[in-house]
Amino acid sequence: MAEGDRIPLDAQSVDAPLSRFAVFLVVTVDASDSALEQVRDVVTEIDDLIKTVGFRDLAAHLSCVVGIGSTLWDRLSPRARPSELHPFPVIAGARHTAPSTPGDLLFHIRADRADLVFEFERLLLDSLRGAVTVASETQGFRYFDARDVLGFVDGTANPVGAELAGAVLIGDEDPDFAGGSYVVVQKYLHDLDTWAKLSTEEQEAVIGRTKLDNVELDDAPGPQFAHKTLSTIDDGHGGELDILRDNMPFGRPGHGEFGTYFIGYSRALWVIERMLERMFIGEPAGFHDRILDVSTALTGTTFFVPSRPVLVGLADGDDGGDDEADAGEPAAPPASAALDAADESLGIGSL
Ligand code: HEM
Repeated sequence: MAEGDRIPLDAQSVDAPLSRFAVFLVVTVDASDSALEQVRDVVTEIDDLIKTVGFRDLAAHLSCVVGIGSTLWDRLSPRARPSELHPFPVIAGARHTAPSTPGDLLFHIRADRADLVFEFERLLLDSLRGAVTVASETQGFRYFDARDVLGFVDGTANPVGAELAGAVLIGDEDPDFAGGSYVVVQKYLHDLDTWAKLSTEEQEAVIGRTKLDNVELDDAPGPQFAHKTLSTIDDGHGGELDILRDNMPFGRPGHGEFGTYFIGYSRALWVIERMLERMFIGEPAGFHDRILDVSTALTGTTFFVPSRPVLVGLADGDDGGDDEADAGEPAAPPASAALDAADESLGIGSL
C-alpha cells in the first residue's frame, strides 16, 4: 500500500484527485423543522459515512463535498452568511438560456470505484430519507484521457499546485468563511449528431484546442471567440482568474442521451457567473459560445461549500459568532484555523 493510500480524504476536500467515477446528487430539503434537524445531523457527520465506506478500499480515494444552497444556508445558520451566496441567476442570451433550477444540497461524491460511490450514495440517501427530495442525480465517468463526449480533453487549464488554493478557497475577503468555496453545477445534454457534422477543424475552433493532441489554438480574427477564450476572465492586472472544474461525461446511448455534467469551484462566485454571461450572452453580445449550439443546459444551481470546520460547526446551529448559548458546544474554530485546515487538506500535486 502506498503512503497516500493510507490517508482517508476529509469531507470538503474540494481538491480531491480526479476520479474515475462520480455522482452529482442535488436534493431539496423539506420545509419542516424535523427535516432540517435530520439534514443538519447528516451533513455535519458526513466524515463518519466517508470513513464507513471509504475505509473498505482507501486506494479508491472516496471523497464527498457538501454544498449548501442559499435558502438552506439561512435555515441552518441564520446569523451570518457567505458574502456572495445567492441562488443561480437565469442567464438569457439571444439564442441560449442557462436555467436556474432548485437545490438545497449538493453531494459531489468521487472515487475510483463505481461500487464505493454507489454504496456511499445509497447509505447517504437512507440517512436522509423522509427529509429530502432528489432534484437531480447524475452518474459521471472518466472517458479515455479525460475527454468529454464531444471528444476533447476537458480540464487541462485547471489551476494546479500553489495556484489552486488561491483560485478556489475564500481568504481574508470573507474571514468567517475562509477556507470555503462556491460551486456551480449545470447538467448539459449534447446533440452529438449535429456536432459530428462539423469538421474537426470547425470543432477545434469552437473549443479553442486541437482535438487529438490538446494544444491551445489562437482565436481566428473577428468577433467570434472560442470556448476557452470566452471562459477566460481577466483579473485586471494581466492575469487570469481561474476556477477548478471536475466535469464528467454521462450518458445512456440506448436512449440517445449524451452529456457533460459541469461543476466549477471558485473562491469568487462572480467569476463563474461572468464566464456564463460571456458564454450565453456573448462577448461581444450576440456572439455566444458555439459549444451551446450543441449543448443544452437542463439545470443550474449554486452552492456554498463550507470548510470542514465550519461544516462541523453547523451541528449546533453555530455560525462562528460568539454566543453564550454555544458554551460547552464544539464551536467552529476561528477563520484562520479554517483556512489552515483547508490548506492542510490540499493534496498539492493531486490533480
Ligand atoms: C475549457 C469543455 C462548460 C469553463 C474547456 C475545454 C473544454 C471544455 C474541452 C478546453 C480544455 C480545458 O482547459 O479544460 C466544456 C464542455 C462544457 C463546458 C463540454 C459543457 C457543455 C463550461 C462552463 C464553464 C466552463 C459552463 C464556466 C462557467 C471553462 C474554463 C476553461 C474551459 C474556465 C479553461 C479556459 C482556459 O483558461 O483555457 N471547457 N466546457 N466550461 N472551460 Fe469549459
